[in-house]
Amino acid sequence: MCGIVGYIGNKQAYPILVNGLKRLEYRGYDSAGISLLNKELKIYKKRGKVCDLEDHVAKEDITGNIGIGHTRWATHGEPNDINAHPHVSMNGHFVLIHNGIIENYSRLKERLKDRGYEFNTETDTEVLANLIEYIYIKGNVSAEIAVRLALSKVVGAYGLAIICRDEPDKLIAARKGSPLVIGVGKGEYYIASDATPIVEHTKSVIYLNDDDVAILGRDGLTLKTIKNDQLTPKVQKIDLDIGEIEKNGFDHFMLKEIFEQPRSILDTFRGRVSLDKNEIHLGGLHYVMPKLIDAKRIIIIGCGTSWHAGLVGEYLIEDLARIPVEVEYASEFRYRNPVINEDDIVIAISQSGETADTLAAIRLAKQAGATVLGICNVVGSSIPRETHGGVYTHAGPEIGVASTKAFTAQVTVLAMIAMSLGYQKKILDNETYSKLISELHDIPAKIEKILTNNDEYLRVSDLYKDATNFLYLGRGYLYPVALEGALKLKEISYIHAEGYPAAEMKHGPIALIDEKMPVVVVATKDKSYEKIVSNIQEVKARKGIVIAVVNEGDKTIESMADHVLEIPETREELSALLTVIPLQLLSYHIAVLRSCNVDQPRNLAKSVTVE
Ligand code: G6P
Repeated sequence: MCGIVGYIGNKQAYPILVNGLKRLEYRGYDSAGISLLNKELKIYKKRGKVCDLEDHVAKEDITGNIGIGHTRWATHGEPNDINAHPHVSMNGHFVLIHNGIIENYSRLKERLKDRGYEFNTETDTEVLANLIEYIYIKGNVSAEIAVRLALSKVVGAYGLAIICRDEPDKLIAARKGSPLVIGVGKGEYYIASDATPIVEHTKSVIYLNDDDVAILGRDGLTLKTIKNDQLTPKVQKIDLDIGEIEKNGFDHFMLKEIFEQPRSILDTFRGRVSLDKNEIHLGGLHYVMPKLIDAKRIIIIGCGTSWHAGLVGEYLIEDLARIPVEVEYASEFRYRNPVINEDDIVIAISQSGETADTLAAIRLAKQAGATVLGICNVVGSSIPRETHGGVYTHAGPEIGVASTKAFTAQVTVLAMIAMSLGYQKKILDNETYSKLISELHDIPAKIEKILTNNDEYLRVSDLYKDATNFLYLGRGYLYPVALEGALKLKEISYIHAEGYPAAEMKHGPIALIDEKMPVVVVATKDKSYEKIVSNIQEVKARKGIVIAVVNEGDKTIESMADHVLEIPETREELSALLTVIPLQLLSYHIAVLRSCNVDQPRNLAKSVTVE
């Protein structure tokens, strides 16, 4: 949540900051602001998107070689011009931007009020600006010391970029809990919440760790801990191409990412699954594989779409490897006093690798002695750095807030894990194992084929774009797909949608069905096929509208349903990878037809770094 950018060097900071903010807008977009230092400090901020900020500063002085910028997802204080970042301290010595939450802000605020400080905003960030300034003036110390001392009094999470008016050749960055990356150029440095604003300027980056403070000047960088221990910066090369973070001719990032899935799934299993050798090799699990094979229990944790992928993972691992699996919302797991054993394997799934609840759940599981693995997309993010091992999904940057290609990549990784475990545990025989490997290889081409039906998805979407409710039904492997389809629709079109196991419909949702209710039934041929055909009849008997995702040539369901969306056949274990595609496109088209902002749906953010 919230995107941070900063620049210090010899170039004009403004265009770098504004372009960077546009790249980070997926992290929050209710207000935006920048501060530039050119002899004096200038601050411009505005409710709305980065383009509103651009209009706002059109006639202003935007010169300066040092600056910071922020795009906000509100936590404390409603989204308005005043609460927008950057925030300035009462006497104007410090200006800062912040991603995260200062949990003890109200206590700190009261203390500062007692010492004469006044506050203009409702934010926790202004408290931090004033705390730094108070220590700076009272202690007569440097900006860096004031920042470190202030942070030692803070409880909570932060990614920070700070300018001190009196030390105009410095930019200070600090991290605890919220991600921060430093881009290293020639005589210049960049700060950003992730590498996307940096990649067009430099490929050399330093990922900050928790409790790190970086002091950036044109002549170099100093890295320390909050406690003043000197650190050696580890400069890494980022493997990210600018084309991967542009729309490349698509109207929206979401559409681009849906259409990228044949390639992104291939990238997920490329070099890991060998058709010739009939082999799956997951390097990041090498050392933990013996533990995984012997595991008595696997606990999968995640949030949102990643949790849905986890449910598919449960079905896969139990089915193919016969290891008991529990799937938990990270936010529930971390607070409900779960039983965690030392021989448990916890698999955390997260596209961003930064979700606060998932990170906290990982720490809890580690404390309890469990082995914790990550399935993440963003390389260098927090979760892969905190886990004992794991697998990157390699789906490439996902910018659309509604997750699409990350889901199919996560399911692909879980399928590879389940297949590999099943084979090594001798539960899968050679023939089944090689059939699964071969079928996984065919998935990208089958998705390619599904994508050619896009016009049909658009046509059906147009018929139901004004519905107020949708029901999504599936059974077995297709139940999590129903959940994911419903989530996609509500996220981006604001239509209420519920996903349900089809058999549970009769215990409640059936009461909602009438001639206005579209029911999307995921009904490809698997062992529950006959049952789901009966569920379709139950819906039709109550005059519901059935939109069914079926295998090509399915005449039975075609004769009952109002619409069929045909997809190629695959093995049941991999069916989630194909069936989810029509549902993604259905929600995309409905949202566009309703004039919704597909890539930046209201109130949501892609990377949820607050709990
Ligand atoms: C947010 C995003 C979702 C995502 C969820 C979990 O809600 O909008 O698309 O599924 O966070 O994020 P993660 O990065 O942990 O997968």
